[in-house]
Amino acid sequence: MNFAVLDSGTGGIPYMLYLKKKCPQMKCAYLADSANFPYGEKTEARITECASEAVSLIVKAWNPEAVIVACNTISVTALTELRTRYPQIPIVGTVPAIKVAAEVSRNRRIGLLATNATVNHPYIRRLEHDFASDCTVFARGDPDLVAFIEHDLFTATEHEKFEAVQPAVKYFAQYGCDTIILGCTHFIHMADIIQEAAGPAA
Ligand code: DGL
Repeated sequence: MNFAVLDSGTGGIPYMLYLKKKCPQMKCAYLADSANFPYGEKTEARITECASEAVSLIVKAWNPEAVIVACNTISVTALTELRTRYPQIPIVGTVPAIKVAAEVSRNRRIGLLATNATVNHPYIRRLEHDFASDCTVFARGDPDLVAFIEHDLFTATEHEKFEAVQPAVKYFAQYGCDTIILGCTHFIHMADIIQEAAGPAA
């Protein structure tokens, strides 16, 4: 079996590695649509157009049996449209873990760290309504942190990495959030640092 992973940049790499580890016999193609990075600052129409072109390229070049959209921005914006355009391929998305956060938050104050396109999308309001109606969700779009991870993470010092996550961590701390959702796949690369900066309560 072969599959393909799609993101706007490096965010999907941990997902691909996880899938390869789980299923070592599977062949995998990875498309980072870096020509169109960042998706999180685009309109819905443009995100859908870019993602659709990317899936079309993947299908032509690789003909995968499944496409994993390892990008929250594409998933909340364009998954339905992609599934309509490519009905012959299972397309699996990634959406912010609001349901899980609501299950673990003790003080019912949840932080959502994602792209601007994700935090502003009605799909998120639906997730809040369906799974976290007794919680307050404090959403923060953080394009600077997304850009830092895409462009600077692999050459940054530990100090620079710690500084890069401070605005987000301080934002959620001021609202007393005890749980932070990493609602953009890029942030997985910095999960340990965000956890350390936020402290044990988050
Ligand atoms: N990694 C992507 C996500 O999960 C988006 C990054 C971007 O292109 O803005 O939302």
